[in-house]
Amino acid sequence: MAMAYLAQASTMLGSLTDRIRVSLSRAGLRYGEYSGNYDRLTRLYRRRDPWNLANSGDGVRFAETNRRIARASPDCPSLLELGAGEGIQTGFLARVADRVTAIELSQEAIDRARQRVPHAHFLKGRAEDLSPLVQGQRFAVATACEMLYYVRDPGAVLAAL
Ligand SMILES: C[S@@+](CC[C@H](N)C(=O)[O-])C[C@H]1O[C@@H](n2cnc3c(N)ncnc32)[C@H](O)[C@@H]1O
Repeated sequence: MAMAYLAQASTMLGSLTDRIRVSLSRAGLRYGEYSGNYDRLTRLYRRRDPWNLANSGDGVRFAETNRRIARASPDCPSLLELGAGEGIQTGFLARVADRVTAIELSQEAIDRARQRVPHAHFLKGRAEDLSPLVQGQRFAVATACEMLYYVRDPGAVLAAL
């Protein structure tokens, strides 16, 4: 009996902790605090999944993004993802594109992303340096989800695209 209560209390505490973590994470990671500050953005990845993307409702966003990509480019042969983070969305994108190339600032994030999506191709660098990074490759679709507002000069990234 006591064990059952303990297990129930532990489950409730766990879900409360998760909810607090998501709220604090979202509040603490407002884009204004990180916008253009690439050192700070990179340091965030000292801890795993700093935006709590794996456990939050973002799966809905990823699924909807996939739905739109599949509609715009059925059998998409190649996709470029800017700001891949730890590859959580990359895993989704790989379901609607034959070949995914992803660019990310943080080496730690890329190391985890490579484990998560081994068949995607990850490049460490800044989206602003897109042309030298992809070396003339062309892509049917490019995504920049939840990342342009962290970029120092979004116009430069759009021009590079
Ligand atoms: C909030 S995460 C978004 C991850 C994923 N795209 C999503 O929508 O869930 C933003 C990512 O963009 C990366 N990022 C920000 N500015 C960048 C830049 N100039 N070049 C490449 N990556 C950048 C950050 O390091 C971070 O991993």
